Amino acid sequence: MENNIKIVFATGNAHKLKEINEIAQGSGIDFVLPSENFNPVENGKTFEENSYIKAKEAAVLSNSIALADDSGLCVEALNGGPGLYSARYAPTAQERIDKLLKNINDSANRKAKFVCAMTLVDNKGQILKQTIGECHGKIAKKQSGTNGFGYDPVFIPEGYDITIAQMPEALKNTISHRSIALNKMLKFINEFLIDRRF
Ligand code: IMP
Repeated sequence: MENNIKIVFATGNAHKLKEINEIAQGSGIDFVLPSENFNPVENGKTFEENSYIKAKEAAVLSNSIALADDSGLCVEALNGGPGLYSARYAPTAQERIDKLLKNINDSANRKAKFVCAMTLVDNKGQILKQTIGECHGKIAKKQSGTNGFGYDPVFIPEGYDITIAQMPEALKNTISHRSIALNKMLKFINEFLIDRRF
């Protein structure tokens, strides 16, 4: 909306930005993409570190406050993998799903979780707040559904018997790792930043 506060969301993933804006609907904040030069080197050792690297680069490029997330899928039977390497596990989204199903094979332990770390920085890249969200569940035997993105077709959240890709996106946005992390962040932004008229 026109009068909403605009905050740069440091991503190149248009689907993530759409999810973020859907989750933030009614908060008075619109998240917008960083400039085209945005090309962070994600060499952190944790989700938190990588989200900080992305947020700082976007903030410095745009000389404004910026939010970033870093997320991934951690599978118990794969010792927490692909984890930080979820986006780089194989060249395409379909190949990543195929590789995951092949590597987990017929393992009885199919427990997994999506993790999302978010970092909000000021225009100099100083951390204002970090939050984390987790969505626990299991890896399906085969892929189903076409909604969402990434590993959604093979992830069944706790309490459901369908994959995230079979859910309406509005339902995903009430249970996802990203919505948990973002709702904590929105609370912070409202309480501390909007009150101080940053
Ligand atoms: P990054 O956070 O952009 O570095 O990439 C995280 C990667 O983890 C994505 O490219 C997806 O493969 C995966 N991922 C993160 N969040 C989700 C989600 O909500 N659904 C499905 N896959 C996800």
